[in-house]
Amino acid sequence: MSIDALTNASKKMTINMKPIVIASHSRFSKSFILTLAVGMTFGFSFAYLLLSVVTWEKIDFLGNSYYLTTQRYHSDMHDHRDFDWSQQAPDNLVSQHNDDEPFHRGENVLAKEVEKKVRVLCWIMTSPKNHETKAKHVKLTWGRRCNKLLLMSSESDSKLPTVKLNVQEGRNFLWAKTRAAFAYVYKHHLNDADWFMKADDDTYVIVENLRYFLQSQNKSKPIYFGCKFKPYVKQGYMSGGAGYVLSKAALTRFVERGMSLHHPSECKEDHEEGAEDVGMGKCMEALGVEAGDSRDSLGRGRFFPFVPEHHLIPGHVNKDFWYWKYIFYPSEEGMNCCSDTAISFHYVSPNMMYVLEYLIYHLRPYGVNSGLKQEGNRMLIEAKDLQTNSANIEH
Ligand SMILES: *[C@@H]1O[C@H](CO)[C@@H](O)[C@H](O)[C@H]1NC(C)=O
Repeated sequence: MSIDALTNASKKMTINMKPIVIASHSRFSKSFILTLAVGMTFGFSFAYLLLSVVTWEKIDFLGNSYYLTTQRYHSDMHDHRDFDWSQQAPDNLVSQHNDDEPFHRGENVLAKEVEKKVRVLCWIMTSPKNHETKAKHVKLTWGRRCNKLLLMSSESDSKLPTVKLNVQEGRNFLWAKTRAAFAYVYKHHLNDADWFMKADDDTYVIVENLRYFLQSQNKSKPIYFGCKFKPYVKQGYMSGGAGYVLSKAALTRFVERGMSLHHPSECKEDHEEGAEDVGMGKCMEALGVEAGDSRDSLGRGRFFPFVPEHHLIPGHVNKDFWYWKYIFYPSEEGMNCCSDTAISFHYVSPNMMYVLEYLIYHLRPYGVNSGLKQEGNRMLIEAKDLQTNSANIEH
């Protein structure tokens, strides 16, 4: 029953009670008590409902409790046990623009160059119930842009296809699944890429920006990048949902040492409750893999554990929300939250993935160019070099 319906019901009740109270003196005390009892019951229920909507206690999977307040704006997800909005998915195939349309022709020349130099393998953590509803839409949207895309599941699905890992399904086995996935990647695809990105099936990645960031990084250095959180691990750890990317050296070290017989205890197979990202963080630290800083020159982040709305709108969640305690670097609300070359967002519904595709890759304000000139000397030089190429393509 909604609060409105409840209020209406209690209004009706009060009106109906009145004649009874006035009509009969002998029943006055009985009716009075009845009215009082009904009033108290409704009053109590109403107050209880109101309070439980406004203040909503949450316990996260590591046993920390925190509060989510002002549910007014709470239509995006902040936690895996929230209502799963991310199941919103298109029923039919969504048509795509042709990359060669006049308005966009020649636009991605530089991105295509970088694609050859900075090779990224993306693997997606998915599960059988999400093959059709989520993983498929990752493949049809941003996943296409990875040099190599692997959908990791506990069951094979020839339509997608998926890689069947020999692990149990469920939140408690995410760490085991992550280990198995990276082991598979190491065994079969180590030489197909320079960087190895893990993302969820509700993560959205702007792959060109990932490559742009990585092109100035050293793949031979044991390092990984993502949305860095402060607790549990001294050097910090990367949020699982925002996705994280390992250098080739980090992947090699993770598999060759972290999964060897004499691995550090931090890399043990069974982490408490399977907490995947904390487990990864502890293991990476023990292996001497650096938790890198992926902020841009203005100090804005590039990897995000929520949808853009959450980071952009001040007061969307209040200041005692766990996120503010977890983030490693200070972060602003409003447009300053996020780098213009942001890399990832999380809790993105399949529908929203197509919306982002349109907004990021198709919609253009006429006459406005992307600001390569402001992105440092390196990009300026590369952009200049390529001007002749794009001039040949444009008509
Ligand atoms: C990249 O990292 C490796 C390993 O740390 C190091 O030997 C090499 O000099 C680095 N290369 C550059 C260009 O910094």
